[in-house]
Amino acid sequence: MDWTEVQVTVAEELEEAVANFFHEGGGGGVVLDRGPAGSVLTAYFPPKEAPLILARLEDYWRELAGLGYPARGQVATRQVAQEDWAEEWKKYYRPFSVGSTYICPSWLEPAPAPGQTLVRLDPGLAFGTGTHPTTQLCLRELAERCRDKTVLDLGSGSGILSIVAIKSGARQVTAVDNDELAVRVAAENARVNGCSFRQVQGDAFALYAQGDYDLAVANISYQAGVRLGEIQRQKKTTLIVSGFPLERLEEYTRQFGDRVVKTACQEGWVCLVLEAG
Ligand SMILES: C[S@@+](CC[C@H](N)C(=O)[O-])C[C@H]1O[C@@H](n2cnc3c(N)ncnc32)[C@H](O)[C@@H]1O
Repeated sequence: MDWTEVQVTVAEELEEAVANFFHEGGGGGVVLDRGPAGSVLTAYFPPKEAPLILARLEDYWRELAGLGYPARGQVATRQVAQEDWAEEWKKYYRPFSVGSTYICPSWLEPAPAPGQTLVRLDPGLAFGTGTHPTTQLCLRELAERCRDKTVLDLGSGSGILSIVAIKSGARQVTAVDNDELAVRVAAENARVNGCSFRQVQGDAFALYAQGDYDLAVANISYQAGVRLGEIQRQKKTTLIVSGFPLERLEEYTRQFGDRVVKTACQEGWVCLVLEAG
């Protein structure tokens, strides 16, 4: 099958919004490339679905304008043959380090420095390559805090944070994602890394509300962060929450500031650690 590549160039503050738009439209893995013209997000859709996505994108610009976000992005499309597409994004994905974690695409030979924790990853069409600032922020906080803890990875995507937790000494990890494909991808990444954790395909909010975990981590969205912050009020657990830009920090801390013990920022994105009150 061939694919329609949809490429959107936007201001950096709209990166997450457009990535979510693509994902909700069934675009699966979204490649992000920051250049002088702005943030370039690329996703692939079956050619029959592409016209609908483009029409929805028009509505989406209007919605964002109504919320006071800057002008619409530039949109470009092209047809890509299946065999090119499967390899295309891999060209841009290289090994990199986040703190003491070394992340290496699973098809490349890893060369971690002594003492680094190796994570081998093939995100496929799931979220979680490890290159996004919100993933990196969560990863650092998690690696620092998870030893001997029971951990809940809310919106686990490729499984990257669960794998880091296991390799950093977590006692037990549960990963939940509502996307079937993400759960399959995470299972394969767990296998490649020789890690074992419980995987659930389901709703992050329900699982968090019902379960008892020492530490939960969520890199989803602002709205998700608010819902999880509300649930955390009833719990005796630590919550690492990210997935939103710096502009929403004040609004978030107005609601949950009494429990925030740490705020970290990277490239305009935030991550907060909430402790039980
Ligand atoms: C931005 S990705 C984060 C992936 C990975 N944890 C990381 O930090 O890179 C968010 C993930 O949350 C999942 N998700 C969104 N809403 C969810 C919900 N209500 N319940 C479970 N998973 C959800 C999405 O399918 C996606 O895989």
